[in-house]
Amino acid sequence: MDDFTYRNETELIFGKQALSCVGEKTRSYGDRALVLYGGASAIRSGLISRVILSLKQSGVEVFELGNVEPNPKMSLAYRGIEICKREKINVLVAVGGGSVIDTAKTVGMGAVYDGDAWDFFTGTQAASMLPIGVVLTIPAAGSESSADAVMTREEDKLKRASCAGDFIRPRFSILNPELTYTLPPYQTACGAVDIIAHVLERYFTTVRGVDVTDRLCEGIVRSVVAASKRVLIQHDDYNARAELMLAGTLAHNGIVGLGRRGDWASHAMGHEISALSNAAHGATLAVMFPAWMKYVYQTDIRRFAQFANRVFDVQYMPWDENEMALEGIRRFETFLHQLGMSTKLLDMGVKEDAIPLMAKKCHQAGSFVSLDEAAIADVYRLAL
Ligand code: NZQ
Ligand code: ZN
Repeated sequence: MDDFTYRNETELIFGKQALSCVGEKTRSYGDRALVLYGGASAIRSGLISRVILSLKQSGVEVFELGNVEPNPKMSLAYRGIEICKREKINVLVAVGGGSVIDTAKTVGMGAVYDGDAWDFFTGTQAASMLPIGVVLTIPAAGSESSADAVMTREEDKLKRASCAGDFIRPRFSILNPELTYTLPPYQTACGAVDIIAHVLERYFTTVRGVDVTDRLCEGIVRSVVAASKRVLIQHDDYNARAELMLAGTLAHNGIVGLGRRGDWASHAMGHEISALSNAAHGATLAVMFPAWMKYVYQTDIRRFAQFANRVFDVQYMPWDENEMALEGIRRFETFLHQLGMSTKLLDMGVKEDAIPLMAKKCHQAGSFVSLDEAAIADVYRLAL
């Protein structure tokens, strides 16, 4: 196991009553709030009105920034930064999923910075930021408690993760599984895939002596497989929605990666697909993860056989771990298809001729196996 230090100050407020404290919690960090939200879902459901009412009742002056798109764009973040500077905003409230939260994180860093906020996505570490509170509406990205933000610069179609630190984690996150009942099945499925991918990026590691976190990873993936199938049958199954919400946070708050080195090649390759085609993040992972697994599994067949056995109940066959590993990958793909996800790049509208540029932009990825540009292109081709 590698050495580590871990710090996470996001306060998690979980359950059916969680939303009632959003005003009071926000007020403890500031009295001039910018509330960020997405396209329409949170307005349609009445959630935005409830959040704003709670803020006003707690004595918080409210400003709004809506229309955050999936695969969020820097242009909107710049508008948010402008509002913050002009109106002397001192706290941000993100109501939505990863796209809204990441926009809030970028606005929060940019509001107290004199340069271009894109700098935070090209190597500059932010020194401070405005405090953020979250009302989560989709279990997926884990941004509600993660130390990352992922943004897209439209001009050159670059989707990049920030060079952030622990301090960009939200100060509090309100997690009410009932707020996810309105999710369309496709978004629920994309979210489940992203949660599993966050675990697997850490699971496939070269670090030895990581049994505790191996088993945490395996347990989370098993729970997400079971719960995601349940919610697709009954969309308002509270307990299944609650499992997904908790899993989404645990998968990406750093806990399951303690003492190990993650890979993250599938995420990096997936970001290039989203940058090109605007595909949903989880959908890109359903395409890239199985292809990546097929490309690299021979590097550590035993680890893939363990995954197959402990997560997808493939019979333990020490005399044929290669077949175990392949059967695990097949069962993972079958599960993705059961969720309604495609595992083919062509279904994202991405054809063979786009691969050289995507591989060039991605350039280098992975630590379980380090992939160079040519290897990345090969993995994309496997996904066609
Ligand atoms: O815009 P609205 O109308 O709200 O619709 C959204 C959006 O279309 C909809 N939605 C969300 N909650 C809903 C709902 N629809 C009905 N009912 C609800 N309760 O879902 C769609 C997707 O929303 P989005 O926020 O984009 O989803 P997600 O949470 O999957 O976030 C994806 C973004 O997060 C980044 C991804 O790359 C992508 O840009 N990630 C961020 C990470 C981080 N900050 O730590 C890590 C991840 O690996 C990921 O890269
Ligand atoms: Zn992800």
